[in-house]
Amino acid sequence: MGFSDSPTLQTLLARRLNRRRLLGSGVGLAALGVVARGAYGQTGEASSLSFPRVQPSKADAVIVPDGYRADVVIRWGDPLFADSAAFDASAIAQGALLRADAVAAQARQFGYNCDGIGLFALGTDRQLLCVNHEFPLPALMFPGWTEARDARAIGAFVRERPSIVQYMQASVGLSVVELARAAKWEVVRDSRYNRRITAHTAMEITGPARGHALINPRGDRAPLVLGTLGNCAAGTTPWRTYVTSEENVDDFFGNGAAAKLDAVTELVHNRFGLRLRDSAFRWEYADPRFDVAANPAELCKFGWIVELDPFDPASRPKKRTALGRFKHEGATTVLAADGRAVVYMGDDQQFEYFYKFVSRGRFDAARPDANRDLLDEGTLYVARLDDDGGGEWLALVHGEHPELTPERGFASQADVVLRCREAADRLGATPLDRPEDVAVHPSTGHVYFSCTQNLARDQGETAVAGRTLDTRTDRASPRAPNTAGHIMELIERGADAAATAFRWEIFLLAGAPNRQQLVAALPPEHAASLAANVTYFGGATDVGELSAFANPDNLGFDNDGNLWIVTDGNQPDDNNDGCFACPTDGPERGHVRQFMSGPLGAEVSGCQFTADGGTLFLTLQHPGEAGSATKPQSHWPDGGEAAPRPSVVAIEPEIRGRKFGT
Ligand code: FEO
Ligand code: CA
Ligand code: CA
Repeated sequence: MGFSDSPTLQTLLARRLNRRRLLGSGVGLAALGVVARGAYGQTGEASSLSFPRVQPSKADAVIVPDGYRADVVIRWGDPLFADSAAFDASAIAQGALLRADAVAAQARQFGYNCDGIGLFALGTDRQLLCVNHEFPLPALMFPGWTEARDARAIGAFVRERPSIVQYMQASVGLSVVELARAAKWEVVRDSRYNRRITAHTAMEITGPARGHALINPRGDRAPLVLGTLGNCAAGTTPWRTYVTSEENVDDFFGNGAAAKLDAVTELVHNRFGLRLRDSAFRWEYADPRFDVAANPAELCKFGWIVELDPFDPASRPKKRTALGRFKHEGATTVLAADGRAVVYMGDDQQFEYFYKFVSRGRFDAARPDANRDLLDEGTLYVARLDDDGGGEWLALVHGEHPELTPERGFASQADVVLRCREAADRLGATPLDRPEDVAVHPSTGHVYFSCTQNLARDQGETAVAGRTLDTRTDRASPRAPNTAGHIMELIERGADAAATAFRWEIFLLAGAPNRQQLVAALPPEHAASLAANVTYFGGATDVGELSAFANPDNLGFDNDGNLWIVTDGNQPDDNNDGCFACPTDGPERGHVRQFMSGPLGAEVSGCQFTADGGTLFLTLQHPGEAGSATKPQSHWPDGGEAAPRPSVVAIEPEIRGRKFGT
């Protein structure tokens, strides 16, 4: 979609002024000494959202509003191919996954911990679903893991059972699955598109880092890497590819303290992180590729955006290094007014940055070949958010900025992308409170991104992720500690996604407005001035109209321009994570309503509508996370005594064809 028809900034500001008049003076703004910010009321019409609000819950179930149905589409272990082995969730406690034959079975079944979704319409009732599998949970897979208790015993447990590492390696990566709808969405098991990608699938490294000695020590023409790891949120491109983001990949590598690193490798690892002893999943005990002492540079092949052509099951996924190496949360692609591709990306760690990539070439719908490698050449930018509400995209281009030169330690653009965080530090990017997923409004082009939380905000001058920085609050991160998170709204200059300047404001300061302070507007100078318990819901003032939520993570838009938010973390009153919707414009701007509540211990992710707006796909990641294989804390979705299974659900109105959200 292009923004050539998008309103200019001037018309948007005019709408905001109209909205100010709508707000009137009834909310005591003058008394607060603040101006009404963040209100884009256009027509005064009610939003398209009228579904009955779901109450927060602690039930081990997916709860949706009356009039809606949530169908489990595919679960961890479900067969993807005609010859896939069956999976029995009730046999996990007896050690079914400790058996060596479980590995080959998992490689042809749906993987674990589904997260980011990409949907491609194949026809009226057919969809191609791409899903990533972020990480394994060995405690829930293998009886004996939790019982081993200490690090030495877990190491011995893994060494004695090396096939469990292979099992976990087969459970991560990606799945491509064709779905067809009859009464509900179901897997087409023998589809020619179905595909599993694991920690062993060969992928190509493309872009500026392709020739770097750490990535390609032998100087191969088409350097390969095995597998993709830690994939979190994801997106699709206008040229019908799936883009997925490698996030906490350092969790997969261990034994860093024993590694002898050369100066370059040490620099690359410094700002990214290196686990000094055990990895989270202990793969290094059975596979030296994940032992940093044995393979100091392997980790550098992860932490990239990966692009997959789901329509060609033989295609090699490509790691697009032009988009920088960091803890990628997601990749949300739109087209600028002139047809260049723009990819918005968060780096999900506390005090990290918000980025975008602008391609050099232009999308050409008539020439698919011209689009194939658009993400290999272009300009990577990082955001600086100024306290006056303005901001600038700072170009991370070797040789252009005086800090990104050989004299300053960056030999090439390959160095810049490999040490992206450090390059962004040098340019003065704004450290944020864990910037996560991004969604772009389908008609205004406004950019929304989650800042999930930051418990370390306002701890003075502190060492975080390889550098020392000032952790004080500022206008973009005004609460300390930021336990509940917030959602930012960014407006590109001229409503052009390729612009180098923007305006920004906070759209939502999450929390429980019914028992925390709710403000109708944010003070213009609120650096370090907001108490931790202040909430702000886009200017909304009626507490009774607002659902409490915290830790926004993945975001999506419906076709009417309502923002859909899913959460990952500690919800108010220890309720389960959920899915929430709210208008971004009009009189109901910021009126967050809960649409769904997830099972026990599950993070809600995915959050993608079909192009016709009729179905919402969500992923339920790590249900029963705090339990173990022998003591499950959730039995979702199979019920009874079965082990919990991360799964994809499709939510639709019970009456076929009824408008979603009503
Ligand atoms: Fe994988 Fe940032 O959540
Ligand atoms: Ca996430
Ligand atoms: Ca998450």
